[in-house]
Amino acid sequence: MIIILCLLLFVHPSSANLTFNFTSFNPNNHELNYQGDAAPSNTVIQLTRNQQDKEMHWSSGRVTYQKLFHLWDKDSGELADFTTRFSFTINSGDQPIYGDGIAFFLAPEGFELPPVQEGSGIGLVGGDQVVNSTLNPFIAVEFDTYKNDWDPVGDHVGININSMVSVENVTWSSLVHNGQKNIARVSYNSSAKRLSVAFTGFDQTGVIFTQRLGKVVDLKRYLPEYVSIGFSASTGDYFEIHTLHSWEFNSSLPIYEERIDPIVSEISMNSSAPSPSVFLRPVPKSKGQSKVVLGIGLGLGLSVSGLIIGFFMFGTLKKRRIIFQKKDEDEFGAPLPNLPKALPTVMFSATPITMSAFWGSPLADLTGSGRDYTMCSSSSEDAKSSKHTSSSSASSIASFVGDTE
Ligand SMILES: *[C@@H]1O[C@H](CO)[C@@H](O)[C@H](O)[C@H]1NC(C)=O
Ligand SMILES: *[C@@H]1O[C@H](CO)[C@@H](O)[C@H](O)[C@H]1NC(C)=O
Ligand SMILES: *[C@@H]1O[C@H](CO)[C@@H](O)[C@H](O)[C@H]1NC(C)=O
Ligand SMILES: *[C@@H]1O[C@H](CO)[C@@H](O)[C@H](O)[C@H]1NC(C)=O
Ligand SMILES: *[C@@H]1O[C@H](CO)[C@@H](O)[C@H](O)[C@H]1NC(C)=O
Ligand SMILES: *[C@@H]1O[C@H](CO)[C@@H](O)[C@H](O)[C@H]1NC(C)=O
Ligand SMILES: *[C@@H]1O[C@H](CO)[C@@H](O)[C@H](O)[C@H]1NC(C)=O
Repeated sequence: MIIILCLLLFVHPSSANLTFNFTSFNPNNHELNYQGDAAPSNTVIQLTRNQQDKEMHWSSGRVTYQKLFHLWDKDSGELADFTTRFSFTINSGDQPIYGDGIAFFLAPEGFELPPVQEGSGIGLVGGDQVVNSTLNPFIAVEFDTYKNDWDPVGDHVGININSMVSVENVTWSSLVHNGQKNIARVSYNSSAKRLSVAFTGFDQTGVIFTQRLGKVVDLKRYLPEYVSIGFSASTGDYFEIHTLHSWEFNSSLPIYEERIDPIVSEISMNSSAPSPSVFLRPVPKSKGQSKVVLGIGLGLGLSVSGLIIGFFMFGTLKKRRIIFQKKDEDEFGAPLPNLPKALPTVMFSATPITMSAFWGSPLADLTGSGRDYTMCSSSSEDAKSSKHTSSSSASSIASFVGDTE
């Protein structure tokens, strides 16, 4: 009896990206995971305890997106581009000393809240790991409102890699005594390997301006392929209220994810021997191209008819493969999605800012048609000193919330 078993394995293309947009939060939404004291409350998330009858010192909490983010691809080495934008308030309630801050982070799945409650790790790490958590890696952007021994003076924003000692920091012209709303944007340009942060600062008169910092960092050196993304916050000896108001995230990893569908064609129902499989594995392609894995298994004892069928299937495969490649080029040969290049500064008084004002403002123009940023491209030194000190007319403001370089 002649048996031919044709096994067809092929891969459906599907872009590996993660996009979500929370303009507010809803306790019934199950796309977010909460840890520690973090909890949804009305339309916002309180990252640390904020209840009148509860102790607000020594609190920490986290919220993460339920799905992991595909940061890079092992086979192609490709890193994802991403942009996340969020609005938050830190309210110190007019206390002279307050702490500790909020951080946006990327970390391996299972990144646990530190077992010991302490403020200095901003809910990311504790104990010895505060200054070296290589064994418990993370990358974070911290909005740090308390000066620990290792911190620069004053409220600051920092980029942290496996340590609460920032690799890059900038003094934050924060306004936390009455909980002014902030917007921040963190983006990663995978070709430049640059992590860029832009965020709101307030001058002495309460006028909003844009501050930023950036760091070239190869994220795949520090983090696994799939990472958990989210926010953490903590209080310690001193406290403040940490509230997340909105969070949007966009990423794109220009590869195909493999989803293997076996198609079994049973030409005959029986086999006297197990059918060894012959797999045709295309060599992984270069940057930006998809991997197509095609497999064809031909049962032993190929008859002439089996050969003919085999050739027929193979012909189909080749065709499919060509189609896949073509599709790939069409969809991904083009430059990466128009991630924002430049954002005009918001210029309005710091007195109560509504969300709608914010989203309607130029800061909302994240996906705008990519204005040329060169006019304000600056070195990171410039970026760090991009502090707008005068309260002159709006027209004189030429700073942008945008990617540096
Ligand atoms: C992300 O994937 C979805 C569906 O897979 C697609 O509609 C969307 O355009 C993709 N976005 C980007 C930025 O690639
Ligand atoms: C998120 O949703 C808000 C409200 O619908 C919208 O204004 C904003 O542009 C969205 N952001 C993105 C990145 O899609
Ligand atoms: C951090 O800890 C790791 C692992 O314990 C160690 O290999 C490394 O040398 C430490 N780095 C510093 C700067 O102390
Ligand atoms: C903060 O940044 C300044 C300016 O780049 C640098 O001189 C200082 O060492 C940094 N401080 C810390 C604690 O990282
Ligand atoms: C990323 O960086 C590269 C190299 O600096 C630059 O050419 C490109 O425009 C940047 N991409 C985005 C989306 O900003
Ligand atoms: C994310 O990608 C979607 C689809 O490409 C786009 O509509 C949206 O504006 C993007 N948002 C950001 C923040 O880049
Ligand atoms: C397949 O082979 C087994 C024994 O090897 C036999 O018992 C069975 O009836 C055969 N089935 C068919 C459909 O030929």
